[in-house]
Amino acid sequence: MRIEIAKTPQAAAESIAARIIKVLTEKPDAVLGLATGATMEPVYQALIAAHRRGEVSFAQAMSFNLDEYCGLSPTHPGSYRATMNRLLFDHVDIDHSRTFVPDGAMADPVLAAADYEERIAGAGGIDLQLLGIGRNGHIGFNEPGSAFDSHTRQVSLHPETLKANQGFFADGSVPHHAITMGIATILAARSILVLATGGAKSTAVSQAIEGPVSAECPASALQQHGDVCWVMDTAAAGGLSRAKAS
Ligand code: F6R
Repeated sequence: MRIEIAKTPQAAAESIAARIIKVLTEKPDAVLGLATGATMEPVYQALIAAHRRGEVSFAQAMSFNLDEYCGLSPTHPGSYRATMNRLLFDHVDIDHSRTFVPDGAMADPVLAAADYEERIAGAGGIDLQLLGIGRNGHIGFNEPGSAFDSHTRQVSLHPETLKANQGFFADGSVPHHAITMGIATILAARSILVLATGGAKSTAVSQAIEGPVSAECPASALQQHGDVCWVMDTAAAGGLSRAKAS
């Protein structure tokens, strides 16, 4: 596991963007696993800026997002599909038909989940998975207690997650269910990049990196992966026993 501690959230986000650009430069048809959430917004801004400067192309890439709320149409502004279009896909040269988000509007979530796993497998698996981390240690929407051998499935969101995500909905009413890649789906990615910024993430970060590998902290499962890089700012690193900004 590699750990990079940047001085500011912006520097951490730019480092993540630079790592994504490097992957796309070396493998233009890379399969990217993408995440939503406030932490990712400066990453996508940095990628858009780099694309406008001609430093990166997504034309041959493919993407799979981690998760989607259930019961929202893809055009609902709170849906992760609409969010990804707004924050990244509409501003770069990615082929929208090669961007995938779980289908939260499908009547049968079991079918939607199985279809997603099949599509990921059909794409040859994920080369680089981008992750944020929840204050309770969740990755994707794998809340504490999620099995490490879980695959894409419908889940109930933890009250803490509902509260954290209220701000993304004009009326504050966050759907209570989502479809998420499972922990096993995430661990199957060839390489994983995790971004954590802000002091509110410091406990989750230290438990994930230095705590026991336990379902109580889903992100601790990343200790079992051979190619994980954590990038964080000094505030998120505050709970680590040996943290020093580079
Ligand atoms: C989003 C996702 C979540 C977020 C996490 C952190 O697709 O899968 O695990 O990465 O909830 O969210 P923010 O960045 O809003 O703190």
